[in-house]
Amino acid sequence: MDGDASQLLRLDNVCKSYHNNLVLENVSFCVNKGETVTLIGPNGAGKSTLMKISLGILDVSSGTVHRSNKISIGYMPQKVMIDDVLPLSVRDFLYLRPGSTYDDIEKVLETVKLSYISNQPVQSASGGEMQRILLARALLGQPDLLVLDEPVQGIDIMGQQEIYGLIAKVRDETNCGVLMISHDLHLVMASTDQVLCLNRHICCSGTPELVKDNPEYHAMMGRPAEGVAIYTHHHNEGHDHKHHGHNHD
Ligand SMILES: Nc1ncnc2c1ncn2[C@@H]1O[C@H](COP(=O)(O)OP(=O)(O)OP(=O)(O)O)[C@@H](O)[C@H]1O
Ligand SMILES: [Mg+2]
Repeated sequence: MDGDASQLLRLDNVCKSYHNNLVLENVSFCVNKGETVTLIGPNGAGKSTLMKISLGILDVSSGTVHRSNKISIGYMPQKVMIDDVLPLSVRDFLYLRPGSTYDDIEKVLETVKLSYISNQPVQSASGGEMQRILLARALLGQPDLLVLDEPVQGIDIMGQQEIYGLIAKVRDETNCGVLMISHDLHLVMASTDQVLCLNRHICCSGTPELVKDNPEYHAMMGRPAEGVAIYTHHHNEGHDHKHHGHNHD
C-alpha cells in the first residue's frame, strides 16, 4: 500500500449493491496500527457487509480497498455453524485454523481465560464461552489487524466489559489495529479511537466523545427512553376515551 506505513487498511468511496439493492454508499475510512475503529449502526445497516469487504471475502461494486501488504488478519465472524454430531474439542476446533499449533492454542485460550474448557466438546460451550472461543481463534496467527463482528453478542454486561478490556490489552501489547462492530457506544468509549456511525452511508464519525453528542448519532440509534414514555401514554389512554394526551406529563 502506498504512503503511510502505519496504515493497515483503507477504504475509499466503497459502494456495494446486492442485485439492485444499494447497501453501502461511498464509505471511506482507514485503520492504523494500534488503533481501534468501531462501527455502530442499526440492524441491516451494512456493517457485516463492510467487514467482509474489508477482508476481501466480498467484492465491492465500486470504490477501492487497500490492505497493507502481507498483513495477517484475525477475523471473528458474526455467526459460525458447527456440526452438532461432529465430535470436536475446543482445542481441536481451534486447530482447524490453518497454521496453528497446540502451543499457540493453549496461549490464546489462556488470553481469553478459557484454558479450563480446552478438552470439552466445542458444542457444549455456553454462548459467552463460544464468543471467547471465536475471539481466541481470531487471535491465532498473531494478527496485525483484528476484525471482530459483534464480539460481545449474547454476553452479559460484566462479560462485555471484560471482552472489550481484553481486546484493548491485546491491541496495546501487539500494536495491532482493530476494526469491530458494537451496538453500545458507552461500553466501547474507553477503548475506541474512532467511531463510524453507519446506516448504509457514514452518518457521522469521529472520537467517541464527539459522536456521543452528535444529533446524527441520536437520530440513527433512537432514544429508548421516549419509547417508554409513549408506552405509558398508551396505557393511560385505555382508561379515558376522550383523552388526547399530554395532561399526565
Ligand atoms: N448475500 C446477500 N444477498 C442479498 N442481500 C444481502 C446479502 N447479505 C446481506 N444482504 C442485505 O444487506 C443489508 C445489510 O446486511 P448486513 O448483514 O451487512 O447488515 P448488518 O449491519 O451487519 O446488520 P446486523 O446488525 O443485523 O448484523 C441487509 O438488508 C441484508 O439483508
Ligand atoms: Mg451484522
